[in-house]
Amino acid sequence: MSEKFVYDENLASTYEKYTRLLGKVAEADETAAFLERLSKGGVALELGIGNGRVAVPLSERGVKVEGIDNSDSMLKLLAERTDLIKGWKGDIARFRAEKPYDLVYCVYSTFTLLSTREEQIACLRSAAEALQENGLVVLEVRVPPLDGLIGGQKTTTTFVDHENTFVNAVIHDPVNQNLTSTILWFSGTSVRRLPQRVRYVYHQELDTMAECVGLQLAERWGDWASGAFTNESKSHISVYRRTGL
Ligand SMILES: C[S@@+](CC[C@H](N)C(=O)[O-])C[C@H]1O[C@@H](n2cnc3c(N)ncnc32)[C@H](O)[C@@H]1O
Repeated sequence: MSEKFVYDENLASTYEKYTRLLGKVAEADETAAFLERLSKGGVALELGIGNGRVAVPLSERGVKVEGIDNSDSMLKLLAERTDLIKGWKGDIARFRAEKPYDLVYCVYSTFTLLSTREEQIACLRSAAEALQENGLVVLEVRVPPLDGLIGGQKTTTTFVDHENTFVNAVIHDPVNQNLTSTILWFSGTSVRRLPQRVRYVYHQELDTMAECVGLQLAERWGDWASGAFTNESKSHISVYRRTGL
């Protein structure tokens, strides 16, 4: 099993501000509306629930939401925010649900934080097994950001305002489809360092992995407003149903 980058206190304490600056908090209600449509009033399970950025607005729409996360610090943020959502500690690469769910979802490319193919397939298998008969799996996955690499590296500025600058330094490992990055967050006179590793995956490989565990693509969109997935899309939202394998 690969070394894990667990969200520690440093990452958790800045998560809300970080996601707010990137527009991900503002986006969460649209994400929740999309997921509410697919949950059909049932029970949903979020993989990598974090601080409840999406789970809280989904729960406010009347969907019963539960979630798994492997970070004590992130689960603490969730618990401080609401007692309506049951969150428990576990690894989304291998989990066993105690009951069937109408919807299992994993957003913000959390799926790619599983940095090996084996872990990603195991996650899809666990998700498929956690579904009730007509249940759905929804994944929001980033299109591999491989443009602009020089010598297997790139450094980009991903956000700037009057107080904050995010600089992302990435190293590409093509053999393992890994991108190991360090986000340097300059704010005033301080610099924070946020490390991360992902295993990028194209949508067609994702479909093949899903098919291996009895899931079939039902819908694919380019954004939460159900815009088309095109060559210009930066991510996709893929909806899978069980095939009964
Ligand atoms: C990018 S954040 C997304 C959080 C939340 N879903 C959101 O959309 O804001 C990824 C979350 O997944 C959790 N995570 C990462 N790898 C995990 C794993 N193997 N098992 C369980 N949780 C994991 C992290 O602790 C973090 O809370």
